[in-house]
Amino acid sequence: MSQGIVTICYIAASILFILALSGLNNQESARRGNLYGMLGMAIAIIATLLSGAVTSYWGIIFAMVAGGAIGLTMAKRVQMTEMPELVAVLHSLVGLAAVLVGYVNFMDTSISLVGAEKTIHEIEIYIGIFIGAVTFSASVIAYGKLSGKIDGKPLILQGKHWLNLASLVLVAILANVFLHGAETGGGMTPLLFMTLIALFFGIHMVLSIGGADMPVVISMLNSYSGWAAAATGFMLDNDLLIVVGALVGSSGAILSYIMCKAMNRSFISVIAGGFGTSVGGMIGSSSSDEEQGEVNSIDADETARLLLDAEKVMIIPGYGMAVAQAQHVVHELSRSLIDKGIDVQFGIHPVAGRMPGHMNVLLAEARVPYDIVFEMDEINEDFPDIDVTIVIGANDIVNPSALTDPNSPIAGMPVLECWQGKMTIVSKRSMASGYAGVDNPLFYKENTRMLFGDAKEMVEAIHKIMSI
Ligand code: TAP
Repeated sequence: MSQGIVTICYIAASILFILALSGLNNQESARRGNLYGMLGMAIAIIATLLSGAVTSYWGIIFAMVAGGAIGLTMAKRVQMTEMPELVAVLHSLVGLAAVLVGYVNFMDTSISLVGAEKTIHEIEIYIGIFIGAVTFSASVIAYGKLSGKIDGKPLILQGKHWLNLASLVLVAILANVFLHGAETGGGMTPLLFMTLIALFFGIHMVLSIGGADMPVVISMLNSYSGWAAAATGFMLDNDLLIVVGALVGSSGAILSYIMCKAMNRSFISVIAGGFGTSVGGMIGSSSSDEEQGEVNSIDADETARLLLDAEKVMIIPGYGMAVAQAQHVVHELSRSLIDKGIDVQFGIHPVAGRMPGHMNVLLAEARVPYDIVFEMDEINEDFPDIDVTIVIGANDIVNPSALTDPNSPIAGMPVLECWQGKMTIVSKRSMASGYAGVDNPLFYKENTRMLFGDAKEMVEAIHKIMSI
Protein backbone atom coordinates (compact mmCIF):
# COMPACT_ATOMS: atom_id res chain seq x y z
CA MET A 1 0.00 0.00 0.00
CA SER A 2 1.44 3.40 -1.00
CA GLN A 3 2.25 5.99 1.67
CA GLY A 4 -0.46 8.28 0.22
CA ILE A 5 -3.20 5.67 0.75
CA VAL A 6 -1.90 4.90 4.25
CA THR A 7 -2.14 8.63 5.06
CA ILE A 8 -5.72 8.77 3.74
CA CYS A 9 -6.62 5.71 5.85
CA TYR A 10 -5.07 7.35 8.92
CA ILE A 11 -7.06 10.55 8.34
CA ALA A 12 -10.27 8.51 7.91
CA ALA A 13 -9.51 6.58 11.12
CA SER A 14 -8.83 9.84 13.02
CA ILE A 15 -12.18 11.28 11.85
CA LEU A 16 -13.95 8.07 12.91
CA PHE A 17 -12.32 8.25 16.36
CA ILE A 18 -13.50 11.85 16.77
CA LEU A 19 -17.03 10.79 15.71
CA ALA A 20 -16.79 7.89 18.20
CA LEU A 21 -15.99 10.27 21.06
CA SER A 22 -18.80 12.64 20.14
CA GLY A 23 -21.17 9.64 19.79
CA LEU A 24 -20.34 8.54 23.33
CA ASN A 25 -21.58 11.93 24.52
CA ASN A 26 -25.10 10.66 25.09
CA GLN A 27 -26.91 7.35 25.41
CA GLU A 28 -28.90 7.60 22.19
CA SER A 29 -25.79 7.83 20.01
CA ALA A 30 -23.43 5.72 22.17
CA ARG A 31 -23.96 2.50 20.17
CA ARG A 32 -23.22 4.35 16.94
CA GLY A 33 -20.16 5.93 18.59
CA ASN A 34 -18.82 2.48 19.47
CA LEU A 35 -19.33 1.30 15.89
CA TYR A 36 -17.38 4.30 14.55
CA GLY A 37 -14.57 3.50 17.00
CA MET A 38 -14.45 -0.16 15.92
CA LEU A 39 -14.43 0.79 12.24
CA GLY A 40 -11.69 3.38 12.81
CA MET A 41 -9.55 0.84 14.66
CA ALA A 42 -10.05 -1.80 11.92
CA ILE A 43 -8.97 0.71 9.23
CA ALA A 44 -5.97 1.78 11.35
CA ILE A 45 -4.77 -1.80 11.92
CA ILE A 46 -5.21 -2.89 8.28
CA ALA A 47 -3.49 0.25 6.93
CA THR A 48 -0.57 -0.21 9.33
CA LEU A 49 -0.19 -3.90 8.45
CA LEU A 50 -0.11 -3.12 4.73
CA SER A 51 2.00 0.03 5.05
CA GLY A 52 5.36 -1.51 4.25
CA ALA A 53 6.68 -0.64 7.73
CA VAL A 54 5.87 -4.23 8.70
CA THR A 55 8.50 -6.67 7.53
CA SER A 56 7.38 -9.90 9.25
CA TYR A 57 3.79 -10.84 9.91
CA TRP A 58 4.22 -13.93 12.12
CA GLY A 59 4.98 -12.10 15.34
CA ILE A 60 2.10 -9.69 14.75
CA ILE A 61 -0.36 -12.47 13.90
CA PHE A 62 0.66 -14.38 17.03
CA ALA A 63 0.31 -11.25 19.21
CA MET A 64 -3.07 -10.34 17.70
CA VAL A 65 -4.52 -13.84 18.11
CA ALA A 66 -3.22 -14.20 21.69
CA GLY A 67 -4.18 -10.62 22.68
CA GLY A 68 -7.58 -10.89 20.96
CA ALA A 69 -8.36 -14.19 22.72
CA ILE A 70 -7.36 -12.81 26.13
CA GLY A 71 -9.32 -9.58 25.52
CA LEU A 72 -12.42 -11.46 24.37
CA THR A 73 -12.36 -13.80 27.38
CA MET A 74 -11.87 -10.89 29.80
CA ALA A 75 -14.64 -8.82 28.23
CA LYS A 76 -17.05 -11.79 28.42
CA ARG A 77 -16.19 -12.67 32.00
CA VAL A 78 -15.98 -9.24 33.58
CA GLN A 79 -18.95 -8.08 35.63
CA MET A 80 -20.20 -4.55 35.00
CA THR A 81 -19.17 -3.64 38.57
CA GLU A 82 -15.58 -4.80 37.83
CA MET A 83 -15.18 -2.55 34.79
CA PRO A 84 -13.01 0.08 36.54
CA GLU A 85 -10.53 -2.67 37.53
CA LEU A 86 -10.42 -3.91 33.94
CA VAL A 87 -9.92 -0.36 32.67
CA ALA A 88 -7.04 0.11 35.14
CA VAL A 89 -5.39 -3.11 33.91
CA LEU A 90 -5.76 -1.98 30.28
CA HIS A 91 -4.25 1.43 31.08
CA SER A 92 -1.29 -0.30 32.73
CA LEU A 93 -0.67 -2.20 29.47
CA VAL A 94 -0.61 1.05 27.46
CA GLY A 95 1.97 2.42 29.90
CA LEU A 96 4.07 -0.75 29.74
CA ALA A 97 3.95 -0.70 25.94
CA ALA A 98 5.24 2.91 25.92
CA VAL A 99 8.16 1.92 28.20
CA LEU A 100 9.08 -1.12 26.08
CA VAL A 101 8.81 0.79 22.79
CA GLY A 102 11.01 3.50 24.32
CA TYR A 103 13.78 1.06 25.31
CA VAL A 104 13.63 -0.81 21.99
CA ASN A 105 13.85 2.52 20.14
CA PHE A 106 16.83 3.57 22.21
CA MET A 107 18.66 0.30 21.62
CA ASP A 108 17.78 0.13 17.91
CA THR A 109 21.09 0.68 16.09
CA SER A 110 19.39 0.86 12.68
CA ILE A 111 17.99 4.34 13.47
CA SER A 112 20.66 6.66 12.16
CA LEU A 113 19.70 10.21 13.07
CA VAL A 114 22.18 13.03 13.57
CA GLY A 115 22.26 16.50 15.11
CA ALA A 116 19.01 18.12 16.25
CA GLU A 117 16.88 15.25 14.92
CA LYS A 118 18.80 12.76 17.06
CA THR A 119 18.40 14.94 20.16
CA ILE A 120 14.66 15.37 19.54
CA HIS A 121 14.29 11.60 19.12
CA GLU A 122 16.12 11.03 22.42
CA ILE A 123 13.91 13.57 24.20
CA GLU A 124 10.86 11.74 22.79
CA ILE A 125 12.23 8.46 24.13
CA TYR A 126 12.95 9.94 27.56
CA ILE A 127 9.52 11.58 27.92
CA GLY A 128 7.74 8.53 26.47
CA ILE A 129 9.39 6.17 28.95
CA PHE A 130 8.66 8.57 31.83
CA ILE A 131 4.93 8.92 31.03
CA GLY A 132 4.66 5.19 30.31
CA ALA A 133 6.31 4.15 33.58
CA VAL A 134 4.14 6.53 35.65
CA THR A 135 1.00 5.27 33.87
CA PHE A 136 2.03 1.64 34.34
CA SER A 137 2.77 1.72 38.07
CA ALA A 138 -0.11 4.10 38.91
CA SER A 139 -2.57 1.86 37.04
CA VAL A 140 -1.33 -1.29 38.79
CA ILE A 141 -1.84 0.39 42.20
CA ALA A 142 -5.26 1.72 41.08
CA TYR A 143 -6.22 -1.85 40.14
CA GLY A 144 -5.10 -3.06 43.57
CA LYS A 145 -7.11 -0.37 45.35
CA LEU A 146 -10.25 -0.82 43.26
CA SER A 147 -10.24 -4.60 43.70
CA GLY A 148 -9.63 -4.29 47.44
CA LYS A 149 -6.21 -6.01 47.23
CA ILE A 150 -4.57 -2.79 48.51
CA ASP A 151 -5.96 -0.74 51.38
CA GLY A 152 -8.11 2.18 50.14
CA LYS A 153 -6.83 4.57 52.82
CA PRO A 154 -4.45 7.26 51.55
CA LEU A 155 -0.77 6.82 52.38
CA ILE A 156 0.47 9.97 54.08
CA LEU A 157 4.27 10.11 54.14
CA GLN A 158 6.07 12.92 55.97
CA GLY A 159 6.96 15.66 53.47
CA LYS A 160 5.35 13.74 50.64
CA HIS A 161 4.97 16.76 48.37
CA TRP A 162 8.68 17.55 48.79
CA LEU A 163 9.38 13.93 47.91
CA ASN A 164 7.34 14.31 44.70
CA LEU A 165 9.07 17.58 43.87
CA ALA A 166 12.53 16.09 44.55
CA SER A 167 11.69 13.14 42.26
CA LEU A 168 10.72 15.51 39.44
CA VAL A 169 13.88 17.59 39.87
CA LEU A 170 15.95 14.38 39.78
CA VAL A 171 14.16 13.31 36.58
CA ALA A 172 15.07 16.69 35.01
CA ILE A 173 18.75 16.33 36.07
CA LEU A 174 18.86 12.75 34.77
CA ALA A 175 17.44 13.99 31.45
CA ASN A 176 20.50 16.17 31.04
CA VAL A 177 22.85 13.30 31.95
CA PHE A 178 20.97 11.02 29.54
CA LEU A 179 21.21 13.43 26.60
CA HIS A 180 24.95 13.95 27.14
CA GLY A 181 25.51 10.21 27.59
CA ALA A 182 23.47 9.36 24.47
CA GLU A 183 25.73 11.62 22.39
CA THR A 184 28.67 9.35 23.14
CA GLY A 185 26.78 6.06 22.78
CA GLY A 186 25.85 5.71 26.48
CA GLY A 187 22.81 6.96 28.41
CA MET A 188 21.31 3.63 29.51
CA THR A 189 22.14 4.11 33.21
CA PRO A 190 20.33 7.47 33.65
CA LEU A 191 17.42 6.07 31.60
CA LEU A 192 17.10 3.11 33.98
CA PHE A 193 17.33 5.38 37.04
CA MET A 194 14.67 7.70 35.62
CA THR A 195 12.40 4.69 34.95
CA LEU A 196 12.73 3.58 38.59
CA ILE A 197 11.90 7.10 39.80
CA ALA A 198 8.89 7.28 37.44
CA LEU A 199 7.64 3.91 38.73
CA PHE A 200 7.99 5.15 42.32
CA PHE A 201 6.23 8.42 41.38
CA GLY A 202 3.21 6.54 39.95
CA ILE A 203 2.98 4.23 42.97
CA HIS A 204 3.25 7.09 45.46
CA MET A 205 0.76 9.25 43.58
CA VAL A 206 -2.07 6.70 43.64
CA LEU A 207 -1.26 5.38 47.13
CA SER A 208 -1.66 8.98 48.39
CA ILE A 209 -5.16 9.33 46.98
CA GLY A 210 -8.09 8.58 49.26
CA GLY A 211 -10.81 6.11 48.27
CA ALA A 212 -13.35 8.87 47.73
CA ASP A 213 -11.19 10.39 44.98
CA MET A 214 -10.66 7.10 43.09
CA PRO A 215 -13.27 7.91 40.39
CA VAL A 216 -11.12 10.87 39.36
CA VAL A 217 -7.99 8.69 39.42
CA ILE A 218 -9.55 6.30 36.91
CA SER A 219 -10.32 9.02 34.39
CA MET A 220 -6.95 10.69 35.09
CA LEU A 221 -5.14 7.42 34.28
CA ASN A 222 -7.24 7.24 31.14
CA SER A 223 -5.76 10.61 30.22
CA TYR A 224 -2.20 9.50 31.13
CA SER A 225 -2.57 6.40 28.98
CA GLY A 226 -3.55 8.67 26.07
CA TRP A 227 -0.43 10.79 26.53
CA ALA A 228 1.66 7.60 26.80
CA ALA A 229 0.19 6.44 23.46
CA ALA A 230 0.91 9.87 21.91
CA ALA A 231 4.50 9.66 23.17
CA THR A 232 4.77 6.20 21.57
CA GLY A 233 3.48 7.77 18.35
CA PHE A 234 6.31 10.33 18.42
CA MET A 235 8.90 7.59 19.05
CA LEU A 236 7.56 5.47 16.19
CA ASP A 237 6.92 8.46 13.95
CA ASN A 238 3.29 7.36 13.62
CA ASP A 239 0.87 10.27 13.09
CA LEU A 240 -2.27 8.25 13.84
CA LEU A 241 -0.95 7.15 17.23
CA ILE A 242 -0.13 10.78 18.05
CA VAL A 243 -3.64 11.94 17.08
CA VAL A 244 -5.42 9.10 18.92
CA GLY A 245 -3.21 9.52 21.99
CA ALA A 246 -3.93 13.25 22.08
CA LEU A 247 -7.68 12.57 21.72
CA VAL A 248 -7.68 10.08 24.60
CA GLY A 249 -5.34 12.26 26.67
CA SER A 250 -7.37 15.42 26.33
CA SER A 251 -10.81 13.78 26.65
CA GLY A 252 -9.60 11.97 29.80
CA ALA A 253 -8.31 15.25 31.21
CA ILE A 254 -11.63 17.00 30.50
CA LEU A 255 -13.56 14.12 32.09
CA SER A 256 -11.31 14.27 35.18
CA TYR A 257 -11.97 18.00 35.44
CA ILE A 258 -15.75 17.52 35.13
CA MET A 259 -15.68 14.78 37.79
CA CYS A 260 -13.62 16.94 40.13
CA LYS A 261 -16.20 19.68 39.76
CA ALA A 262 -19.02 17.17 40.40
CA MET A 263 -17.29 15.98 43.59
CA ASN A 264 -16.11 19.45 44.65
CA ARG A 265 -12.47 18.37 44.54
CA SER A 266 -9.59 20.50 43.31
CA PHE A 267 -8.24 19.07 40.05
CA ILE A 268 -4.64 20.01 40.89
CA SER A 269 -4.93 18.49 44.37
CA VAL A 270 -6.08 15.15 43.01
CA ILE A 271 -3.41 15.05 40.28
CA ALA A 272 -0.72 16.03 42.76
CA GLY A 273 -1.74 12.97 44.76
CA GLY A 274 -3.73 13.65 47.85
CA PHE A 275 -3.33 17.36 48.57
CA GLY A 276 -6.11 18.03 51.06
CA THR A 277 -6.56 14.40 52.04
CA SER A 278 -7.19 15.69 55.53
CA VAL A 279 -10.63 16.11 54.03
CA GLY A 280 -10.63 13.46 51.33
CA GLY A 281 -8.99 10.58 53.03
CA MET A 282 -9.99 9.91 56.62
CA ILE A 283 -12.19 7.01 55.79
CA GLY A 284 -14.54 6.07 58.55
CA SER A 285 -13.45 8.92 60.77
CA SER A 286 -16.52 11.01 60.36
CA SER A 287 -19.76 10.77 62.24
CA SER A 288 -19.72 6.96 62.13
CA ASP A 289 -19.03 6.63 65.82
CA GLU A 290 -21.64 9.10 66.88
CA GLU A 291 -25.03 8.06 68.19
CA GLN A 292 -27.39 8.62 65.27
CA GLY A 293 -30.78 7.63 66.72
CA GLU A 294 -33.52 5.23 65.68
CA VAL A 295 -34.07 3.75 62.25
CA ASN A 296 -37.59 3.25 60.86
CA SER A 297 -37.94 0.19 58.68
CA ILE A 298 -40.64 -0.57 56.14
CA ASP A 299 -41.75 -3.66 54.19
CA ALA A 300 -42.59 -4.18 50.53
CA ASP A 301 -46.40 -3.96 51.14
CA GLU A 302 -46.18 -0.57 52.79
CA THR A 303 -43.71 0.67 50.16
CA ALA A 304 -46.09 -0.36 47.36
CA ARG A 305 -48.94 1.48 49.10
CA LEU A 306 -46.86 4.66 49.52
CA LEU A 307 -45.79 4.56 45.88
CA LEU A 308 -49.36 4.08 44.64
CA ASP A 309 -50.58 7.00 46.77
CA ALA A 310 -47.86 9.31 45.40
CA GLU A 311 -48.24 11.79 42.57
CA LYS A 312 -44.52 12.30 41.99
CA VAL A 313 -41.90 9.59 42.48
CA MET A 314 -38.11 9.91 42.18
CA ILE A 315 -35.93 6.82 41.73
CA ILE A 316 -32.25 7.15 42.72
CA PRO A 317 -30.14 4.17 41.62
CA GLY A 318 -26.70 3.45 43.08
CA TYR A 319 -23.97 0.82 43.17
CA GLY A 320 -26.25 -1.70 44.96
CA MET A 321 -28.67 -1.71 42.00
CA ALA A 322 -25.72 -2.73 39.79
CA VAL A 323 -24.65 -5.47 42.24
CA ALA A 324 -28.22 -6.83 42.48
CA GLN A 325 -28.71 -6.46 38.69
CA ALA A 326 -32.04 -4.87 39.54
CA GLN A 327 -32.18 -2.41 36.63
CA HIS A 328 -34.72 -4.42 34.58
CA VAL A 329 -37.18 -4.88 37.42
CA VAL A 330 -36.70 -1.21 38.43
CA HIS A 331 -37.68 -0.29 34.87
CA GLU A 332 -40.78 -2.52 35.10
CA LEU A 333 -41.71 -0.87 38.40
CA SER A 334 -41.35 2.60 36.88
CA ARG A 335 -43.48 1.58 33.88
CA SER A 336 -46.26 0.28 36.11
CA LEU A 337 -46.25 3.53 38.09
CA ILE A 338 -46.33 5.63 34.91
CA ASP A 339 -49.22 3.48 33.60
CA LYS A 340 -51.11 4.35 36.77
CA GLY A 341 -50.67 8.07 36.02
CA ILE A 342 -47.84 8.67 38.49
CA ASP A 343 -45.04 11.04 37.47
CA VAL A 344 -41.76 9.08 37.67
CA GLN A 345 -38.24 10.48 37.28
CA PHE A 346 -34.79 8.96 37.69
CA GLY A 347 -32.13 11.07 39.44
CA ILE A 348 -28.52 10.26 38.49
CA HIS A 349 -25.50 11.34 40.49
CA PRO A 350 -22.33 11.83 38.39
CA VAL A 351 -20.32 9.35 40.49
CA ALA A 352 -23.10 6.85 41.28
CA GLY A 353 -21.79 3.30 40.98
CA ARG A 354 -18.15 2.58 40.23
CA MET A 355 -17.41 4.21 36.90
CA PRO A 356 -18.41 7.32 34.98
CA GLY A 357 -21.89 6.89 33.50
CA HIS A 358 -22.40 3.54 35.30
CA MET A 359 -26.08 4.16 36.07
CA ASN A 360 -26.81 5.61 32.63
CA VAL A 361 -25.40 2.45 31.05
CA LEU A 362 -27.51 0.16 33.26
CA LEU A 363 -30.72 2.15 32.71
CA ALA A 364 -30.08 2.25 28.96
CA GLU A 365 -29.53 -1.54 29.02
CA ALA A 366 -32.92 -1.93 30.76
CA ARG A 367 -34.45 0.42 28.14
CA VAL A 368 -35.57 3.11 30.56
CA PRO A 369 -36.66 6.04 28.32
CA TYR A 370 -34.02 8.78 28.29
CA ASP A 371 -36.56 11.56 28.81
CA ILE A 372 -37.30 10.48 32.39
CA VAL A 373 -33.61 10.18 33.36
CA PHE A 374 -32.17 13.40 34.83
CA GLU A 375 -28.73 14.47 35.98
CA MET A 376 -28.36 15.62 39.59
CA ASP A 377 -28.09 19.31 38.69
CA GLU A 378 -31.33 19.16 36.72
CA ILE A 379 -33.50 17.79 39.50
CA ASN A 380 -31.87 18.58 42.85
CA GLU A 381 -34.15 21.56 43.41
CA ASP A 382 -37.30 19.53 42.68
CA PHE A 383 -37.16 17.34 45.80
CA PRO A 384 -39.58 19.45 47.91
CA ASP A 385 -42.27 18.54 45.32
CA ILE A 386 -41.48 14.81 45.37
CA ASP A 387 -43.90 12.62 47.35
CA VAL A 388 -41.78 9.48 47.48
CA THR A 389 -38.11 9.01 46.64
CA ILE A 390 -36.94 5.43 46.39
CA VAL A 391 -33.17 5.03 46.76
CA ILE A 392 -32.06 1.71 45.28
CA GLY A 393 -28.68 0.50 46.52
CA ALA A 394 -27.22 4.01 46.84
CA ASN A 395 -25.51 5.42 49.89
CA ASP A 396 -22.70 8.03 49.55
CA ILE A 397 -24.51 9.93 46.80
CA VAL A 398 -27.47 10.64 49.13
CA ASN A 399 -25.41 11.31 52.26
CA PRO A 400 -26.35 14.69 53.85
CA SER A 401 -23.09 14.75 55.86
CA ALA A 402 -21.31 15.66 52.60
CA LEU A 403 -22.95 19.05 53.01
CA THR A 404 -22.91 19.37 56.79
CA ASP A 405 -19.80 17.61 58.15
CA PRO A 406 -16.51 19.25 57.10
CA ASN A 407 -14.58 16.25 58.48
CA SER A 408 -16.38 13.75 56.31
CA PRO A 409 -14.29 12.04 53.59
CA ILE A 410 -16.97 13.15 51.13
CA ALA A 411 -17.24 16.71 52.51
CA GLY A 412 -18.17 19.20 49.79
CA MET A 413 -19.34 16.55 47.31
CA PRO A 414 -22.72 17.65 45.95
CA VAL A 415 -25.33 14.97 46.73
CA LEU A 416 -28.92 14.23 45.74
CA GLU A 417 -30.88 15.99 48.48
CA CYS A 418 -33.73 13.50 48.67
CA TRP A 419 -34.38 14.25 52.37
CA GLN A 420 -35.93 17.54 51.19
CA GLY A 421 -38.79 15.47 49.75
CA LYS A 422 -41.83 14.24 51.69
CA MET A 423 -40.70 10.63 52.13
CA THR A 424 -37.53 8.68 51.26
CA ILE A 425 -37.40 4.89 51.11
CA VAL A 426 -33.89 3.39 51.09
CA SER A 427 -33.55 -0.12 49.67
CA LYS A 428 -30.35 -1.86 50.87
CA ARG A 429 -29.46 -5.03 52.71
CA SER A 430 -28.15 -3.65 55.99
CA MET A 431 -26.90 -0.50 57.72
CA ALA A 432 -23.46 -1.03 56.14
CA SER A 433 -21.65 2.02 54.78
CA GLY A 434 -20.95 2.66 51.10
CA TYR A 435 -17.69 3.14 49.17
CA ALA A 436 -16.42 6.07 51.27
CA GLY A 437 -16.89 4.06 54.47
CA VAL A 438 -18.99 6.61 56.37
CA ASP A 439 -22.27 6.39 58.20
CA ASN A 440 -25.26 8.04 56.55
CA PRO A 441 -27.49 10.35 58.67
CA LEU A 442 -30.20 10.05 55.97
CA PHE A 443 -31.09 6.60 57.33
CA TYR A 444 -32.01 8.09 60.72
CA LYS A 445 -34.20 10.93 59.48
CA GLU A 446 -37.86 11.03 60.48
CA ASN A 447 -39.07 11.01 56.87
CA THR A 448 -36.81 8.07 55.87
CA ARG A 449 -37.86 4.41 55.83
CA MET A 450 -35.33 1.57 55.44
CA LEU A 451 -36.39 -1.29 53.18
CA PHE A 452 -33.92 -4.03 54.10
CA GLY A 453 -33.10 -6.79 51.60
CA ASP A 454 -31.54 -7.42 48.22
CA ALA A 455 -32.57 -4.61 45.83
CA LYS A 456 -33.78 -6.96 43.10
CA GLU A 457 -35.86 -9.10 45.46
CA MET A 458 -37.36 -6.05 47.14
CA VAL A 459 -38.30 -4.26 43.92
CA GLU A 460 -39.74 -7.51 42.54
CA ALA A 461 -41.83 -7.90 45.71
CA ILE A 462 -43.11 -4.29 45.47
CA HIS A 463 -43.94 -4.75 41.80
CA LYS A 464 -45.78 -8.00 42.46
CA ILE A 465 -47.89 -6.42 45.20
CA MET A 466 -48.68 -3.43 42.97
CA SER A 467 -49.78 -5.71 40.13
CA ILE A 468 -52.35 -7.59 42.26
P1 TAP B 1 -22.12 3.30 47.64
O1 TAP B 1 -21.98 4.51 48.45
O2 TAP B 1 -20.92 2.45 47.40
O3 TAP B 1 -23.28 2.42 48.34
C1 TAP B 1 -23.79 1.30 47.73
C2 TAP B 1 -24.74 0.62 48.71
O4 TAP B 1 -25.36 -0.44 48.01
C3 TAP B 1 -24.03 0.01 49.90
O5 TAP B 1 -24.18 0.81 51.05
C4 TAP B 1 -24.69 -1.37 50.04
O6 TAP B 1 -25.34 -1.46 51.32
C5 TAP B 1 -25.75 -1.39 48.95
N1 TAP B 1 -25.84 -2.69 48.29
C6 TAP B 1 -24.83 -3.50 47.89
N2 TAP B 1 -25.32 -4.62 47.35
C7 TAP B 1 -26.68 -4.50 47.40
C8 TAP B 1 -27.75 -5.35 47.00
N3 TAP B 1 -27.54 -6.54 46.42
N4 TAP B 1 -29.02 -4.91 47.20
C9 TAP B 1 -29.25 -3.72 47.79
N5 TAP B 1 -28.28 -2.89 48.20
C10 TAP B 1 -27.00 -3.27 48.00
O7 TAP B 1 -22.72 3.61 46.19
P2 TAP B 1 -23.23 4.97 45.55
O8 TAP B 1 -24.21 5.64 46.46
O9 TAP B 1 -23.63 4.61 44.15
O10 TAP B 1 -21.96 5.90 45.54
C11 TAP B 1 -20.84 5.61 44.72
C12 TAP B 1 -19.56 5.68 45.53
O11 TAP B 1 -18.53 5.04 44.81
C13 TAP B 1 -19.11 7.10 45.78
O12 TAP B 1 -18.45 7.20 47.03
C14 TAP B 1 -18.11 7.33 44.65
O13 TAP B 1 -17.14 8.33 44.93
C15 TAP B 1 -17.45 5.96 44.59
N6 TAP B 1 -16.84 5.64 43.30
C16 TAP B 1 -17.47 6.02 42.16
C17 TAP B 1 -16.86 5.77 40.96
C18 TAP B 1 -17.55 6.29 39.73
S1 TAP B 1 -16.68 6.94 38.58
N7 TAP B 1 -18.86 6.27 39.65
C19 TAP B 1 -15.65 5.04 40.89
C20 TAP B 1 -15.04 4.59 42.10
C21 TAP B 1 -15.67 4.91 43.30
P3 TAP B 1 -25.63 -2.92 51.96
O14 TAP B 1 -24.33 -3.63 52.01
O15 TAP B 1 -26.22 -2.60 53.28
O16 TAP B 1 -26.62 -3.59 51.04
